[in-house]
Amino acid sequence: MADKATLEFNGQKIEFPLIKGTEDEIGIDIKSLRSATGGAITIDPGFKNTGACESGITYLDGEQGILRYRGYAIEELAEKADFLEVAYLLIYGDLPNQEQLDKFNADITSHAVVDDDVKKILDAFPKSAHPMGVLSSLTSALTAFNPSSVDASSKEAMYNSTVRILGKFPVLVAWTMRKKQGLPLDYGDTSLGYVENLLKMMFKKPNEEYVHNPIIVNALDKLLILHADHEQNCSTSTVRIVGSSYAGLFASLSAGISALWGPLHGGANQAVIEMLEGIMADGGDTKKYMAKAKDKNDPFRLMGFGHRVYKNFDPRARIIKSAADEVLNDLGIEDPILEIAKGLEKEALRDEYFVERRLYPNVDFYSGIIYRAMGIPIEMFTVMFAMGRLPGWIAQWKEMRHRKEPIGRPRQIYIGENYRAFKSISERS
Ligand code: ACO
Repeated sequence: MADKATLEFNGQKIEFPLIKGTEDEIGIDIKSLRSATGGAITIDPGFKNTGACESGITYLDGEQGILRYRGYAIEELAEKADFLEVAYLLIYGDLPNQEQLDKFNADITSHAVVDDDVKKILDAFPKSAHPMGVLSSLTSALTAFNPSSVDASSKEAMYNSTVRILGKFPVLVAWTMRKKQGLPLDYGDTSLGYVENLLKMMFKKPNEEYVHNPIIVNALDKLLILHADHEQNCSTSTVRIVGSSYAGLFASLSAGISALWGPLHGGANQAVIEMLEGIMADGGDTKKYMAKAKDKNDPFRLMGFGHRVYKNFDPRARIIKSAADEVLNDLGIEDPILEIAKGLEKEALRDEYFVERRLYPNVDFYSGIIYRAMGIPIEMFTVMFAMGRLPGWIAQWKEMRHRKEPIGRPRQIYIGENYRAFKSISERS
């Protein structure tokens, strides 16, 4: 393999060094492109061929369907680790020993309270507000109550912001749901595990004991792990680019939440269930919807299918599909939309259109079915995704600051009007 790439431009040969990753991925380092060509840039809408950074956090091979956090296979982590261990792994690079985990947990729980005035902000939202908009606003608002969180000048300052947000975020997640349901805003019990406490904060009724169901605790823990990072996707790139202006951690996370909200990204988990319910209400004719998905004149897409990077099975979708079967079975729930989802998957996997374009189920195709079985309202699904993605966003933001990456600022090719002389209003047609 060559160690450089050559570009012929204006009769001149320009050489660019290659950057090789630890898994042999190759990048052409074009940092000198503009100076060597006298100002030419690359154009790559959607950044389909553009690497924004070098990163040591998550390895993803979309051809082989491989996903690893800090070198550990996602399948093993989902089976053997818990969410806080994975959060520590992503943020600090190694699995914690018991002492490190205990300290991490204690520091997080010591910050698991938000300023009471946050309730007033939440109160100002209408009940109809989408929880993702509310979560994004409240996460940004936390900066006002924790001004030191913008400090990223030392390891200690970053650690403090990290444990603060890991402590407070589950409270915001639970409150966005309780607000919609008209339930009192409450705190859970920090003597419980992270995920148990989150569930208690979400579901505890004011007049009843909350009894944990271990099936639900395990399933949610697994789902959060599977969502915890996914390298340079839309929301993570947003967090990094916002953070690259030296905006604080919470403001960067708030921007990431907004990016995740859209149905082409994290919002797909809500869109999948709405689609499956729609198909069921329309008589369950999956063939009709397959045809719509393939019709270029029809805006309908098979939500939960396709991925920018995976051109093979999304390994997370495999795990979630079998978890969906297990959870529904263990909880004794028969959900007809699971059968519709399986039917769609079966047809898509043998359909020429989907096979040719290498469209497979992604992480969102089956996750909503599990959330639904847990009793989580549909509009909260993307909020649950954000809860899972939080450690990944923190890890990526921290890495970007540590590596002293320059401010993110893409260029453009201008295709607008050339110079025009100003016309006063009476001269305009
Ligand atoms: N249904 C029908 N056709 C599809 C679908 C789909 N779900 N996804 C892609 N295609 C088709 C496109 O129409 C295009 O066809 P063409 O080559 O004939 O024009 C081709 O497959 C390539 O699709 P692109 O949109 O160019 O692929 P891109 O990498 O830009 O988009 C995306 C990836 C956004 C995920 C897309 O597959 C999609 O919209 N999927 C549905 C939404 C979804 O599930 N999003 C969640 C992704 S996972 C996550 O973000 C957590």
